[in-house]
Amino acid sequence: MDLLWVCSFFFMLILSRSSSSDTEKQSLDSGLEIYKKLFEVKRKDQMNALKNLIELNDVNQQYKIIDIMLKGLFKVLEDSRAVLIAADVPPDGPFPHDEKLKDAYSHVVENTAFFGDVVLRFPKIVHHYFDRNSNWNNLVRWGISFCNQTGVFDQGPHAQVLGLMAQELGISEKSPDYRNPFKTDQSEFFPSADTFQKALREEEKRRKKEEKRKEIRKGPRISRSQSEL
Ligand SMILES: *[C@@H]1O[C@H](CO)[C@@H](O)[C@H](O)[C@H]1NC(C)=O
Repeated sequence: MDLLWVCSFFFMLILSRSSSSDTEKQSLDSGLEIYKKLFEVKRKDQMNALKNLIELNDVNQQYKIIDIMLKGLFKVLEDSRAVLIAADVPPDGPFPHDEKLKDAYSHVVENTAFFGDVVLRFPKIVHHYFDRNSNWNNLVRWGISFCNQTGVFDQGPHAQVLGLMAQELGISEKSPDYRNPFKTDQSEFFPSADTFQKALREEEKRRKKEEKRKEIRKGPRISRSQSEL
């Protein structure tokens, strides 16, 4: 009798435990599963935006747009990182319920993915801005690591983007067989590769000159704000 009672007690315990952790797991997963579907929709919008940017076929315009876009993107990434860190949201934990945290979470995932697309499609332009910005470098390192742990990128069409962007940006070591999958397609996007390369070089020269001029003008202010930090 006692044994039976103990057995049923454990049985109940095991049952209730497993069922409660089951429902918990289910609700965690369903939050993430719903988000993954939203992410797919968002990625389609991002791809369309990127397609329009490619079809502009005007390096000067592309530089300008990417410059502005990256500033916005990294601002959002920075703010979202601050929100997630302040609330102690682990990347591999449950999908957050709080609206503000949901926003921050999805902003990190979506903007990191989008930045990956942009750097793979426009490596030269992005390197031009990215390579001298250590704050962006830190943010992207954090973003890639966060995304990598969410599970959002584990399967499907986005499985490659984190690894590829990390290699393209020099964040992880380039594997010997690393190849930017879009690089060979460039002639498709830009009918004349030579014209494109020439325009790109000219635009780079022009930008470097402009930035030098700006640096000279900003000189004293930069050194003061640095000493304040
Ligand atoms: C993602 O995480 C796995 C496991 O920790 C690791 O092997 C891989 O290099 C990471 N990918 C990136 C792009 O950081």
